[in-house]
Amino acid sequence: MHRRMIAPGALAAATLLLAIPASAASHSPGAPGIGDPYYPYYGNGGYDVSHYDLRLKYQPATDELEGTATIEARTTQDLSSFDLDFLLDVSEVRVNGATAAYASSGQHELVITPKKPLAKDTPITVVVRYSGVPSTKSAYGFTTWHRTPDGGIAADEPEAAWWWFPSNDHPGDKATYDVSVAVPDGTQAISNGTLQSTGSQLGWTRYNWRQNKPQATYLATLAIGKFDITTGTSEGGVPVLNAYSRDLGDNAGAARASVERTGEIVDWLSGFFGPYPFGSAGGYVPNTTTGYALETQTRVYYSPKQFAGGSNTSVVVHELAHQWYGDSVSLKGWKDIWINEGFARYAQWLWSEHEGEGTAQELADWVYASHPAGDPFWTVAPGDPGPDDQFDIAVYDRGALAVQALRNEIGDKAFFALLKGWPQKHAYGNASVADFRKYAEQVSGKPLAALFDTWLFQPVKPAAPAARAASLTKASAPTAPPRSWKKIEATNDVHTR
Ligand code: ARG
Ligand code: ZN
Repeated sequence: MHRRMIAPGALAAATLLLAIPASAASHSPGAPGIGDPYYPYYGNGGYDVSHYDLRLKYQPATDELEGTATIEARTTQDLSSFDLDFLLDVSEVRVNGATAAYASSGQHELVITPKKPLAKDTPITVVVRYSGVPSTKSAYGFTTWHRTPDGGIAADEPEAAWWWFPSNDHPGDKATYDVSVAVPDGTQAISNGTLQSTGSQLGWTRYNWRQNKPQATYLATLAIGKFDITTGTSEGGVPVLNAYSRDLGDNAGAARASVERTGEIVDWLSGFFGPYPFGSAGGYVPNTTTGYALETQTRVYYSPKQFAGGSNTSVVVHELAHQWYGDSVSLKGWKDIWINEGFARYAQWLWSEHEGEGTAQELADWVYASHPAGDPFWTVAPGDPGPDDQFDIAVYDRGALAVQALRNEIGDKAFFALLKGWPQKHAYGNASVADFRKYAEQVSGKPLAALFDTWLFQPVKPAAPAARAASLTKASAPTAPPRSWKKIEATNDVHTR
């Protein structure tokens, strides 16, 4: 940039220009972030990934992970260098077959400088050879890789990929995946999509998983450990594969009694959201001590804690609802999290109604009454909560209240058309809260700016809708849940058990 500003003919400038190949003068480094204001360094600029091929080997005894990532991408600008987001130790990088220079930068950036600059809009193949002990790596104080007594797990939001593969780590760049993992015979490796094949040699069993539909990086998951695997097909024809750690203790029965209903719940959700978007469904329950669940694409991550109180089909409904709202249709920026969590929570309310445990409207009234006007709950704006409150309980509960308010405003016919139409309109893509409002206005024929502003953006308790006011004056309103539930470690807590 500066070079262009030096007066032509100046000796210094001429010398500098001579040192740089003519083709490089217009090339610049790709940005270290994709441009998400919540997380300025997540994702990267200058290229778009279409496919990740990960060929890995993991030793549970030592937590050593090693392997090669081959990334198929396309440049979106003239590049002199570009970043991947990654924490493990790199031993070689190749770009289009030629070895490339690389260096770590910032908390989690791997900066790659190819021998020759890359022209805009050309396909590139990046090979990264690496190894490391993921549990020893941290960035911003996060140590996301979970060790278990018999293995390890990558599953978190919004960041989990850095601990196991180099990536453009933002939902704005979705890609297909082949994940091949060798583990000692007798151990299993679980990932997304379909299990294409397995094979054993030299004491190592290799599991070859394929995700053939676009997937956000945080929805890619890897779990190694001793698992029992069950397979089947839902009545509606969706193949199901679930995996349970053999080490779930007392929670084993309730975990199976919940997660084995995946096929039934996928079919039930299809009635509201349209055809299931992926070629496989299922979940896994590792022997972890963490408390949350995550909608990892096609293969949901559940903590055994979700089942400590008995069966919990509600968490299964929540995570499977995300397969449409969050996974197939991903957010554009992390501020759009309401489209994920508001609708996944609302699906739990619909399930409650189906199970005869309270209608969606009753649950909405209950949540509304549970939080008095002075409750800090109402200061979180689910439509743009900020990174610190991205998974605040208000994003879920006030988020679902907003969905109920929308339903009451536009009527059931338009509402259920919208619920089913949205996953079709943006299938396998990305969309924002603003896109959702526009689509809701289109489907319902009503202006909705004020309703969205009231329920999603104003930092105050909305006035009770007139039609509902009578039921809200009843003296039976429960007291507010303790603020220790603020963070979503207890995601599927309040109305689910
Ligand atoms: N999307 C997840 C869920 O609602 C929440 C994950 C929050 N992350 C965390 N580390 N607690 O099920
Ligand atoms: Zn969720």
